[in-house]
Amino acid sequence: MRCYSHGYSLLAGAHHRSFSSAITSKYPHTLEILSEQYSTDEITNVTPAILSKIPLRIHTQTGHPLSTLRSIIESHYPDFSHISSFSPLVTPFKNFDELSFPKDHPGRSVTDSYYINKELMLRTHTSAHEVEVFSKGEDKWLLTADVYRRDEIDGSHYPVFHQMEGARLYNADASGMEEVKEDNERLSRHLETSNIVIQDIPHISPTNPVQQTHDPVHSELIAKNLKLSLNSLLLRLFGGSKSEEPLRVRWIEAYFPFTSPSFEVEVFFRGKWLEILGCGVVRQSTLDTSNVQGKIGWAFGLGLERIAMILYSIPDIRLFWSTDKRFLSQFKAGEIKMFKPYSKYPSCFKDVSFWNPQGSVPLHDNDFCDLVREIAGDLVEDVKVIDSFVHPKTNRSSSCYRINYRSMDRSLSNEEVNELQKSVITRLTDVFRVEIR
Ligand code: PHE
Repeated sequence: MRCYSHGYSLLAGAHHRSFSSAITSKYPHTLEILSEQYSTDEITNVTPAILSKIPLRIHTQTGHPLSTLRSIIESHYPDFSHISSFSPLVTPFKNFDELSFPKDHPGRSVTDSYYINKELMLRTHTSAHEVEVFSKGEDKWLLTADVYRRDEIDGSHYPVFHQMEGARLYNADASGMEEVKEDNERLSRHLETSNIVIQDIPHISPTNPVQQTHDPVHSELIAKNLKLSLNSLLLRLFGGSKSEEPLRVRWIEAYFPFTSPSFEVEVFFRGKWLEILGCGVVRQSTLDTSNVQGKIGWAFGLGLERIAMILYSIPDIRLFWSTDKRFLSQFKAGEIKMFKPYSKYPSCFKDVSFWNPQGSVPLHDNDFCDLVREIAGDLVEDVKVIDSFVHPKTNRSSSCYRINYRSMDRSLSNEEVNELQKSVITRLTDVFRVEIR
């Protein structure tokens, strides 16, 4: 239900959600995260299942597909700084305000993002570090990190995933623009030999404007450099594939509060267009905040799981978190190889229907998914809304969800699934005060 750019791209069908209160007030006074204590408050909504992922840092585990993909992308940008050590705890100011997100942007809501408390959240994107890195005077950099977004559960959505942010600044003067032109020529020559089909769009259109403080010629050169650079990366990543069909890539216009013009790239995979990255010309206000003067440049943010799923044929996003030898032993550092699925264990579907408490906001899908994830962890493959309606007389709303329990590693017994389902129901009634139908 939510695409890669996750509502940060307002043109790509953002979901506007209202603020709702925290899942529960049953949090301890403090939470320990990476050996530090943090106080909780009325908006705290991080769950133990989420917190348990923070120390894992699978993007830095040698041999892990995400780590190999990171190194391949880093090797494509050899003269960039490579950063992958930043903590996921950031202030909402850093995640949103510093990047010109409007005050009412849906991404800020507790239904979309994880908050430790009012002052601290889990970063929802690697762009949260743009100002920090630009402030250090870095002109060319890549930053890889785990990011966190509340979401529905299915084979390609997981509330923790990994992004890689890349940025490049040039001097906004004649010599800087000469450098861009040279780079553009070099990249164009390299791309002529490409065996991928790229559907392109004009760089600049009325809905995707050049920033007022930018010389349109400079902005156009930078946007072109961004596209050539990413097309060349995509060629490096996907160009060597031996599949009969050529890889199809398309550029579409997008909106991000911190870039203009902005774009998204989608890749055609298993009959669907998948968003794999967002990018654009960096908003000058971001550079002003970073105390960077006289520069112009681009930034991109790409989703590592999406790309790794395509490159390695990994069918389910939960597999990235597997510690099963049958998964991990298939991969070697630096090598991309088709994943051989081991047998799929049977699914077990369980439905739950309930009435929301009278006169209160109905339970949010993401609250339901987090509750299920808290109890069943990676034993839940997906959760679907199968019915929801409002009773015409009483005005009460009812929801019905179907939970698909399936382990990646073993068969689940009936008793085990029944226990899980029982805990889901108990928690629903205890915490959310719903009435099971
Ligand atoms: N941070 C954006 C996202 O997560 C992607 C992006 C990065 C867009 C950099 C523009 C520039 O959707």
